[in-house]
Amino acid sequence: MRLHVADHPLVAHKLSVLRDKDTPSPVFRQLVEELVTLLAYEATREVRTVEIEVQTPVAVTTGTHLAEPRPLVVPILRAGLGMLEGMTRLLPTAEVGFLGLQRDEETLQAITYANRLPDDLSGRQCFVLDPMLATGGTLIASIDYLFERGARDVTCICLLAAPEGLALVEKHVGDRADVNVVVAAVDERLDEKAYIVPGLGDAGDRLYGLV
Ligand code: URA
Repeated sequence: MRLHVADHPLVAHKLSVLRDKDTPSPVFRQLVEELVTLLAYEATREVRTVEIEVQTPVAVTTGTHLAEPRPLVVPILRAGLGMLEGMTRLLPTAEVGFLGLQRDEETLQAITYANRLPDDLSGRQCFVLDPMLATGGTLIASIDYLFERGARDVTCICLLAAPEGLALVEKHVGDRADVNVVVAAVDERLDEKAYIVPGLGDAGDRLYGLV
């Protein structure tokens, strides 16, 4: 697994506003989108491209296009949905599939409750969107699900990660270079309810206004 922690003052600034418990949902949603666009810039550094010929008003030159098959963006329901707009702004030609994974609050295991993805993901570069990498269970389940269907590589974009969750994902996927995790920050720890500390609370509730 390769981990990339965004090191940029704008990312740090937006993240600090997200963490503030008094930031209202509309501002929170807007900032999540902006933050994801910044993270997506890093996350797509190795997106596959092909050379094409471009006729400019002056001359013919060689340009770059995204390769086929198109990248697949997979927001994890529900909180990952809040990241979709920020991602597709940067990657408008990507296809979007949905995966509904929820953690059982008793066992803290991820359970799949919805799936809207192509059966065959052969050769696909996949970008998983999940704001909080807490225990790592949801991300591991998503990564396995995508590779089982033939995905070529999987890049997970998260706003925050806990060291415990990162360690579990790393233990699960080992040193394979086709799994990337891009985060805005790695926080201190998980609390007893598996919330990230200091974190930003329940990302889904903060996005959608339920407390
Ligand atoms: N999910 C959240 O929304 N927040 C956390 O801190 C952990 C998991």
